[in-house]
Amino acid sequence: MVTALLILSLGGSVLLPALGPAGARGSWVIGGKAALPHSRPFIASIQMDGQHFCGGFLVWPKWVMTAAHCPIPRRNPSVRVVLGAHRLERPEESQQVFGVEESIAHPLYDPRTVDNDIRMLRLNGSATLNKYVKRIRLPSPHVDLKPGTVCVVLGWGDTSNYGERPEQLMETDTAIVKRSLCRTLWRGRVSANMLCGASRNATLRGVCAGDSGGPLIFKRKVYGIVSFSGERCGDRRYPDIYTKISNYIDWVHLIVLKHRHPEGQQEHKPGPGAAKGPGAGRLWGPAGGPRHRSGPAAPRRAGKGRAPRAPLQLQGL
Ligand SMILES: *[C@@H]1O[C@H](CO)[C@@H](O)[C@H](O)[C@H]1NC(C)=O
Ligand SMILES: *[C@@H]1O[C@H](CO)[C@@H](O)[C@H](O)[C@H]1NC(C)=O
Repeated sequence: MVTALLILSLGGSVLLPALGPAGARGSWVIGGKAALPHSRPFIASIQMDGQHFCGGFLVWPKWVMTAAHCPIPRRNPSVRVVLGAHRLERPEESQQVFGVEESIAHPLYDPRTVDNDIRMLRLNGSATLNKYVKRIRLPSPHVDLKPGTVCVVLGWGDTSNYGERPEQLMETDTAIVKRSLCRTLWRGRVSANMLCGASRNATLRGVCAGDSGGPLIFKRKVYGIVSFSGERCGDRRYPDIYTKISNYIDWVHLIVLKHRHPEGQQEHKPGPGAAKGPGAGRLWGPAGGPRHRSGPAAPRRAGKGRAPRAPLQLQGL
């Protein structure tokens, strides 16, 4: 149908938090199955006023990684991070609940291009690591996943394009799509800081709104953060887009160190070779590392106390 194709050709949407406006394309893992309870003990449910809002994952006992486009305020009593959960709607003894002491979006996160879509949350206490709550390891700096690599994605969202929410944590597999092909399919919207994943066949399969911030896993490490997808979730013609975590290892370590010694450096200390901001030349730098791209020209910051906003529509280029 011409209309549908036209809409699709205009691109996709950031996988906005589940608390988006009513009628938003809420959905989570599509074409998946329930995860074996507690088989993914690093998964976090980030909740606002008791409702699941975004996914995340535990990377150290006090730190959860998620997407910058999840506007999670810090020190807000209505925000909770729930670890050790399988069914969100019932009390589970395995659950550990924390507040968010710090919520740090990447200084170069750009809501327009959705580049650098990574956020670190410092919990208000240390998680107790046990059978139900464990951390997941990060990849080595700058490693990439080969096209065709089959990964797993997780989420607690709607399981259709029509907003059906699962009772349990869901998971599905997704295959890495070559970045150059993905960039063509997305008309240039895919930066070197992104990974693409899609169903291996015509079955609708993948992530959708509400899965935001969740992990893309391969062999016990997390390589990606759920970032955005096409309008129709699971449609392999618009692969799902993940933040490529390996490009941010230096930044992540810097943030964690800085908050271990808070009286040390200034927040967001400018690095050498300040970025020129979106549109000013090479937006998609080489995999040389975001560390060298942090600087005073950082675009608008996300999060920090702002209310959730309507889903961003990515305009076609
Ligand atoms: C951390 O935040 C949670 C949720 O707001 C709260 O229940 C808990 O008491 C807080 N813990 C500490 C150590 O402040
Ligand atoms: C698509 O591939 C999945 C495995 O990833 C398989 O379970 C499913 O049956 C396949 N569907 C079709 C229509 O071939």
